[in-house]
Amino acid sequence: MTQLPAAPKGADNPKALYGGTGTRRVTVRDIAAAKERGEKWPMLTAYDAMTASVFDEAGIPVLLVGDSMGNCHLGYDSTVPVTMDHMAMLSAAVVRGTSRALVVADLVFGSYQEGPAQALRNATRLVKEAGVGAVKLEGGERSLAQTETLVEAGIPVMAHMGLTPQSVHTLGYRVQGRGEEAAARLIRDAKAAQDAGAFALVLELVPAEVAAEITRSLHIPTIGIGAGPDCDAQVLVWTDMAGMTQGKVPRFTKQYADLRRTLGDAAKAYAEDVVGGAFPAEEHTFH
Ligand code: KIV
Repeated sequence: MTQLPAAPKGADNPKALYGGTGTRRVTVRDIAAAKERGEKWPMLTAYDAMTASVFDEAGIPVLLVGDSMGNCHLGYDSTVPVTMDHMAMLSAAVVRGTSRALVVADLVFGSYQEGPAQALRNATRLVKEAGVGAVKLEGGERSLAQTETLVEAGIPVMAHMGLTPQSVHTLGYRVQGRGEEAAARLIRDAKAAQDAGAFALVLELVPAEVAAEITRSLHIPTIGIGAGPDCDAQVLVWTDMAGMTQGKVPRFTKQYADLRRTLGDAAKAYAEDVVGGAFPAEEHTFH
C-alpha cells in the first residue's frame, strides 16, 4: 500500500504560519507561537511589490528584503554596495505589495557597525519610512549591543550568523562553524543573540549537526539556509528558488521553476509577433 506523506505539523491548525486561515499581518508573537507548536515554516526573499504579492498570495508568512538584492536585483557582485536608500525604497515596495506577510528588512553593510545609535537611526527609518515589521542584522557577539538597543526601542530583530555575506572580504563564501571550537563559538553567539532579545536567528552555511543543536537549545526559531533540515524554518533567495538566477547557484538551494527560460521564451515570442506583424492584432487595436 502506498504510504501517504505525514501531514506537516500545524497543517490542521487555523493559526499555522503556513496553511492557516489567518489574514491579518503576521507578527513576531505568531513566530514565537509556531516555535512552541513545533511548526516548520518557509521564508523567501522579495525585492519588489509585484513579486512580493505573489508570495503573499501563496501564503509565505515571512518575506525578507535581503541585501542579496545587491546580487539579485541591482546587478552588483556582492551585498556590500547596497545602501540604506536602496533598502528603504525596496522594503516600502514589498510592504505595499503584501497584506499578510511579516516583512523583515536587512540593515545593510555600514548601517549598524558603528554602534547602537547608528543601528537605531537606520532601523527606525526602515520601520517608519518603509513600514517593515522587523529588521535583520549580521553578526554574533559584535552585534549584541545593537540588538539590545533596537529591541528596547520596540524594533524586533532577526539575527544572522554562520556565513555572513557582508563579511565576504574576511570570511569568503564557505561553511562556518566547522570544528569543535568554531561550533562552540557559534552556539554561544546564538544563545547570546537570544538573550539580547532577537526573535529569530538565520543560520547560513552551517553544518547540519551544529544547526540542529542550536535549534534544540534555543526557544527562538532558527531559519536555515544551507544549515540542514532540522532548523525551525528555511529561507531561500527567491531568484534561486524560481530559476531566475543567471549561472551557478549554491548547492544548498533548490530550483522549483525555470522562470528565466519561461520569461526569455515569452520575450522571444513577443518579439517574433512584432517583427512578423502578428501583434498587435485587431483585438488589441482601437478605432
Ligand atoms: O540577504 C539575504 O537574502 C539573506 C538571506 C540569504 C538570509 O540574508
